[in-house]
Amino acid sequence: MCPYGFSVFRILQISGFGMCALRGNGMDEILRVCGLKKTFRLSAKQQKLEKSGDRKKVALNDLSFTAYRGEVFGLLGPNGAGKTTTLRILATLIRPDEGDAVIDGASVITEPGEVRQRIGFLTSELKLEEFFTPNYLFDFFADLHGVGAKEKADRRKELFERFGIDQFAEVKVGNLSTGMKQKVSLAVSLVHDPDIIIFDEPTNGLDVLTAKVVTDFLLDLKTQGKTIIVSTHIFSLIERICDRVGIILDGHMAVCDSLEAVTAGKSLEDRFFEIYEERVGGIA
Ligand SMILES: Nc1ncnc2c1ncn2[C@@H]1O[C@H](COP(=O)(O)OP(=O)(O)O)[C@@H](O)[C@H]1O
Ligand SMILES: [Mg+2]
Repeated sequence: MCPYGFSVFRILQISGFGMCALRGNGMDEILRVCGLKKTFRLSAKQQKLEKSGDRKKVALNDLSFTAYRGEVFGLLGPNGAGKTTTLRILATLIRPDEGDAVIDGASVITEPGEVRQRIGFLTSELKLEEFFTPNYLFDFFADLHGVGAKEKADRRKELFERFGIDQFAEVKVGNLSTGMKQKVSLAVSLVHDPDIIIFDEPTNGLDVLTAKVVTDFLLDLKTQGKTIIVSTHIFSLIERICDRVGIILDGHMAVCDSLEAVTAGKSLEDRFFEIYEERVGGIA
């Protein structure tokens, strides 16, 4: 059970007032995920890949967690834990079988359009149409989100300069490097300047330089007051950018707290494997 009571308190950004000190009473909830369940039907090919005779795969099993305004929240888990499924539900790309998620007051089930206006969903898997140029794609996504002409021009300038896209603005995406493609997909996904950024595996498949550009950018967005939800299986990324972390195992939230509380003086990696052994058992 998960009641939909929303705290209306803003984060008191008074120096000396740590976020953790306010957690649970004064922090402003921006995301509440309640009892998400999602089961996929598996094709014969998928059953083979999963090495299972089961025709169904439970991807999420009663998953709940909360994120607060202005924080970087990390969803950490091994492959297959349910991270992408969770974020795709938050982005309203798929519907859960049960449960709901409320993002800045809008339900993914009953108000998906509202949710889409408030979030930017990014994934390293996003494939841009290779035939189009960054300029064209930027216009396309800006128009899709109803961004006005002046705001569009300002955002293009800011984002293209930031990511060094300017000089490639008229080059077809198919002719760009992988890193530049990723930067273009970042720019077009953020054209509407969303307050909440949901990013599935932000550094997957990126070279170290582009990965740094991306993580530095996420930290900048945080200083602008944005809320960032990332999923990853990379411990160091969580340690570098996250305020709070949820460890997801087999579609269920095993632990969810501030990074300091979860690690309790140990490395995140050590704590992760302790929690894994407790909840799942030994590592094969
Ligand atoms: N469309 C789908 N059809 C069948 N099974 C799926 C589908 N999407 C995800 N799954 C399965 O659900 C589980 C969770 O997947 P996913 O959310 O992608 O995990 P993660 O992102 O943590 O690696 C995995 O076992 C995966 O194979
Ligand atoms: Mg994934």
